[in-house]
Amino acid sequence: MSRAACLLVIISLMSPAAEALDNGLALKPTMGWLHWERFMCNIDCDTDPNNCISERLYMQMADVMVKEGWKEAGYEYVCIDDCWPSHQRDAQGRLQADPKRFPGGIKKLADYIHSKGLKLGIYADVGDKTCAGYPGSLGYYEKDAQTFADWDVDLLKFDGCFMNRALLGEGYINMSKALNNTGRPILYSCEWPLYEWPLKQPNYTAIRETCNHWRNFDDVFDSWSSVKSILDWTAAHQDIIVPAAGPGGWNDPDMLVIGNFGLSHDQQESQMALWAIMASPLLMSNDLRDICPRSKELLQNKRIIDISQDSMGKQGYRTAKGNDFEVWERPLSKNRLAIAVLNKLETGGPRGFNIGAAPGWKICGPQCNVTQILPQYKEMGVQTQQSKIIVSVNPSGTALLTVTPISSDFRRLHKLNWQGTFVRRKHTIL
Ligand code: GAL
Repeated sequence: MSRAACLLVIISLMSPAAEALDNGLALKPTMGWLHWERFMCNIDCDTDPNNCISERLYMQMADVMVKEGWKEAGYEYVCIDDCWPSHQRDAQGRLQADPKRFPGGIKKLADYIHSKGLKLGIYADVGDKTCAGYPGSLGYYEKDAQTFADWDVDLLKFDGCFMNRALLGEGYINMSKALNNTGRPILYSCEWPLYEWPLKQPNYTAIRETCNHWRNFDDVFDSWSSVKSILDWTAAHQDIIVPAAGPGGWNDPDMLVIGNFGLSHDQQESQMALWAIMASPLLMSNDLRDICPRSKELLQNKRIIDISQDSMGKQGYRTAKGNDFEVWERPLSKNRLAIAVLNKLETGGPRGFNIGAAPGWKICGPQCNVTQILPQYKEMGVQTQQSKIIVSVNPSGTALLTVTPISSDFRRLHKLNWQGTFVRRKHTIL
């Protein structure tokens, strides 16, 4: 490759692929709660009133979010997923909430959520039907967008079931325009690439211009194999998807399942750390009314949330793998770097990893300050390129650190900063 061509590649990789959807929203990855993984399509309010999809569930979740520090930690959106509507549209063709489970209707629910200083999200589908078989928005984009705006909804998750895949892009773009035309800022969460991948490589420039975040891969389940498959898919496609992320538009690897049944505590730490590294929306799907203190503390960990919400808005990615370890790194504002070391070996005990082997460690020059955040918070003080810091990582757990270079020579720092390693995005073999 000629020098000029090489420079072009470098420049294109360093900046997000395109302008983000210009609705002023999602300048940082969205934080909140979404019902799907934990509560699915439970509509049986007669026998399971506490857990069925009803206005009560969202009101209770909002109450807890305010009382138990979630809102203060940054979790803001309370989001409804599938199975909320009635099977019939109303006489004017508008979507309506199931009258038995949402007796007050969505507008009243939105008022309630807003009275708590939170925001309300809702769900619909670009095609004929939602994935669970409720009315889809095809043929009703303007009407549905206006209905959501009239109800004062703040976020729309737009699914892609029952849609001609060749028309997916058009559908997502038209709904984006319809939302914009309402004049109400409504955060737009898409599943466009997920449904398009089987057909062709999605156009992430167009997706970023259309959506505030977008699902790329399968639904998350409450299991380590599911979380692992999401990480593997993300790493395998990082050259395509990472450059698309930035303020206003994010890759969405799906919900946090921390606080449920399927992940050990180490695995929960891995999900939290890596979702922060990936600049993912932090949408919890769990029961905040009944969550163990350790999971709560992890989800509310300010240092991890600070990485997630870093103002530079660059998505991190996998930079090295080998010896059953993976290193994921994310460049942060003020030339800092977050490093996550994931122990993929699911046997034996804790294993030591020398942080000096992380490709990003080169920013520690001549000196740096190191803070370990997971598995325990520890100030590791001033280090140098030559320091040998061994972190201990449990099976399927993650060590998370931040590295802050100490140098008065900004130019030198700039040369060595992590964006330099970003453009040479080859995996280091450990
Ligand atoms: C899936 C979607 C899930 C959930 C579900 C509802 O397609 O990926 O996140 O929304 O539909 O039926």
